Parts: sequence; structure tokens; C-alpha cells
Amino acid sequence: MKTFTDRTAAITGAGSGIGRALALRLAGEGCHLALADRDAAGLAETAALAGPQIRVTTSELDVADEKAVFGWADEVVADHGGVHLVVNNAGVALSGTAGSLSLDDYRWIMDINFWGVVYGTKAFLPHLEAAGEGHVVNLSSIFGVAAQPLMSGYNASKYAVRGFTESLRQDLELTGSAVSATCVHPGGIRTNIAKSARVHASVTAATGKATDAATAEFERMLNTTPDRAARTILDGVRRNQRRVLIGPDAWVIDSMVRLLPATYQRIVTGVVRSRRG
Ligand SMILES: NC(=O)c1ccc[n+]([C@@H]2O[C@H](COP(=O)([O-])OP(=O)(O)OC[C@H]3O[C@@H](n4cnc5c(N)ncnc54)[C@H](O)[C@@H]3O)[C@@H](O)[C@H]2O)c1
Repeated sequence: MKTFTDRTAAITGAGSGIGRALALRLAGEGCHLALADRDAAGLAETAALAGPQIRVTTSELDVADEKAVFGWADEVVADHGGVHLVVNNAGVALSGTAGSLSLDDYRWIMDINFWGVVYGTKAFLPHLEAAGEGHVVNLSSIFGVAAQPLMSGYNASKYAVRGFTESLRQDLELTGSAVSATCVHPGGIRTNIAKSARVHASVTAATGKATDAATAEFERMLNTTPDRAARTILDGVRRNQRRVLIGPDAWVIDSMVRLLPATYQRIVTGVVRSRRG
């Protein structure tokens, strides 16, 4: 996609953070919007900010609900007459040691961060192909490139998004599709992700920090603005990039993993240990 003007974009997790910033940037370029989030209030705020100059529809949606996501894609096409861009952005964070997180914790994060992306891709792909041009943008993380302690559920979900999206991109090329795909790996972006994260009590035992202090430390690492992230993502789509890294921290971590593909883990654990409260 070289232009977003007069196209239609569907964005999940549009009620906050990166999803909202993408909606506002796309609105500024004259792109019509189909916005979804499980947070109805956040969604309404984004729609109001996007302004009246473009067509905006909103849907309260849980991306972990397969039927609801497929139903939403059909609704978007019925309301907008077609769709060109889908951004599978909705996501949550989870921290705790692998020994103490429950299987339900892992199912919860995979249902949203991984299955939500698969449902969104599968539900919209036929509609993007029917439009004759289209792009799938899936939100992984720099933690889909490098692992860190206390994030096994989040890491697993974001590595899964990366594998899914990199293979999807090749399938689309192999079959001569008019649709392409980009996997996005943000570093720390200043959003509500840390505030809404599930933090298991085992984090305190492992880091010596109370849950609040651990969340505050997580928040201090979120340095790039959501608007900057949105700009980088849309530039990546225009350039048809396979992968988009966002923020200097993402570039540093990516380089560290290339240089020290196994040893980087010792370095990361050492940094976390050195910050023990
Ligand atoms: N902020 C960061 O530092 C960062 C870094 C790497 C990757 N990411 C990824 O970027 C994406 C956007 O996160 P953000 O930072 O803007 O966070 P955010 O918390 O500000 O926004 C996430 C949005 O997703 C929505 N959401 C959560 N679960 C949902 C569900 N089941 N169904 C529908 N909507 C749901 C939330 O209501 C919220 O509006 C996520 O996938 C996240 O993992 C964020």
C-alpha cells in the first residue's frame, strides 16, 4: 500500500496506546476507520478524536473470541464496502516465573496475543484479497526477538506472532497475492500496557520488588511515544517492510541477539539481578 487516503483500515486495540495513535495518524491521511476494542469507553474516545472528516465505525470486541472477530470482519465490509488494511494490535502483558504461572495464565495470554492475531488475519485476508490491494500488520514485540526472565507467557505469544507473520508473508509472496504482511517489534512504548498487565506475586520473590515497584520500573522503560510508533509502522507498510523495529531500545536488543544469540540471556538475567530491590 502506497497510500492510505480513501482506503479503510481495521484496527484492534484501538481504545488506547499504539492502536489509538495509528487510528489518529490514519485519520489524518484520510483513511476510513473500523475500530475495535474490548474497552468501549476508550474506543469511543478514539472515535471522537479521529474526527468527523472520515467514516469511523466502532465495535466492542474481544479478539480472543473467534466468532466475534469473524463477525466483525463481515460487518466492516458491509459498513465500509471493503477493507484494505488490518492491524492486529490488541495485546496484554503478563509477568511471573514460569514455575508459578498457571496453565490458565498461559492460555489467557495466548488467546489474546496469539490467537487474536490469527483470527484477525484469517477473518480479514479474503476481504483484503477481494479489495485487490491490502496489508496485514501484526504486533509482535522486541520480546518476540529476545526473551527475558519473568515473561515466558508474553515471550511465547510474541515469538508465535513473529513466526506466524513471517511465514504468512512468504505464503502471500509465493502465491502472488495482492496482499502483504509486516511484523512489528516495538521496544518500550509509553502506553497503558504496564498498568493493565497481570503481575504474579512470584515477581516480588524473584526481583525483591513489590508489585507496584515492579510495574513502575516496567513503565520507566517505556520511552517512545505511541505517535512515533504509529508513524514508524505506517512508513513500514508504505515501504512494504517485512519487519519493523521501533525505538532505539529495540535496535540495541536486536543487535545484541544477532551478536550473542545464546549469551544474551546471561546478560539480561545479570541486568535484572543487579537491579534487585
Ligand atoms: N507498549 C509497549 O511497550 C509495547 C512493546 C512491544 C509490543 N507492544 C504491543 O503493542 C500492542 C498494543 O499495546 P499498547 O502498548 O498500545 O497497550 P495498551 O494497553 O495501551 O493498549 C492495548 C489495547 O488493547 C485492548 N485489548 C486488550 N485485550 C483485548 C482483547 N482481548 N480484545 C480486544 N481488545 C483488547 C486494550 O483494551 C487496550 O485498549 C500490544 O500487542 C502489545 O503487546 C507494546
